[in-house]
Amino acid sequence: MADERVSHWEGVYREKDDSQLSWHQDDPSISLELCDMAGVHSGSSVIDIGGGTSRFAARLIEKGLRDVSVLDLSEAALDRSRRHLKPASDQIKWIAADVTTWTPSRSYDLWHDRAVFHFLINADDRAAYIDRLRRCLRPGGHAIIATFALDGPEKCSGLPVVRYDPQGLSEVLGDAFSLVAERRHMHPTPWGSAQSFQFSLLRMGQ
Ligand SMILES: C[S@@+](CC[C@H](N)C(=O)[O-])C[C@H]1O[C@@H](n2cnc3c(N)ncnc32)[C@H](O)[C@@H]1O
Repeated sequence: MADERVSHWEGVYREKDDSQLSWHQDDPSISLELCDMAGVHSGSSVIDIGGGTSRFAARLIEKGLRDVSVLDLSEAALDRSRRHLKPASDQIKWIAADVTTWTPSRSYDLWHDRAVFHFLINADDRAAYIDRLRRCLRPGGHAIIATFALDGPEKCSGLPVVRYDPQGLSEVLGDAFSLVAERRHMHPTPWGSAQSFQFSLLRMGQ
């Protein structure tokens, strides 16, 4: 399964440019708004899980953050981001790993995931993800997790997804997390269709 996952995403990033990726957005405005709500500041540490070729990490560097990491299982995505996001990319730590098998070596103030958790359609993978999330966040830290909403598409990048509302997502994540804020978002794909997302801001207890 893990190999299939890597080959799927390597193929996507080798064959398609950003304008052909349904999830691409030039301006990650909702993520940035929720970062502000979480109290993220220039001294905060942030990791973007499955960051792909997102502009989110570069926007954080522009805002003055000095400790920003991007994790993705696709080397092709990370290479492209490193090239596209220059010079900000020189200040970003790039981690090539599958979040469900990754061994984190430190903690972060904020975990950001837009459109990754929803691909975890089996319970073991979800448990592995939540284990990393809990190990990575400092007590009192925040997570922003965006998935397709209940009325969103049933597939993303041709793969089946699990759709959530913020309450359902909170239940899956467990009692360690409390929901702080939620946003609905109709994401316009680069070719003009709409995808319904939910963004949840959660806080991990002490
Ligand atoms: C739909 S894209 C979203 C990319 C980015 N978060 C954004 O908002 O533009 C999903 C991304 O997650 C990565 N990915 C999928 N499964 C993953 C996993 N288990 N571990 C790490 N990255 C993963 C893919 O390579 C891809 O870059």
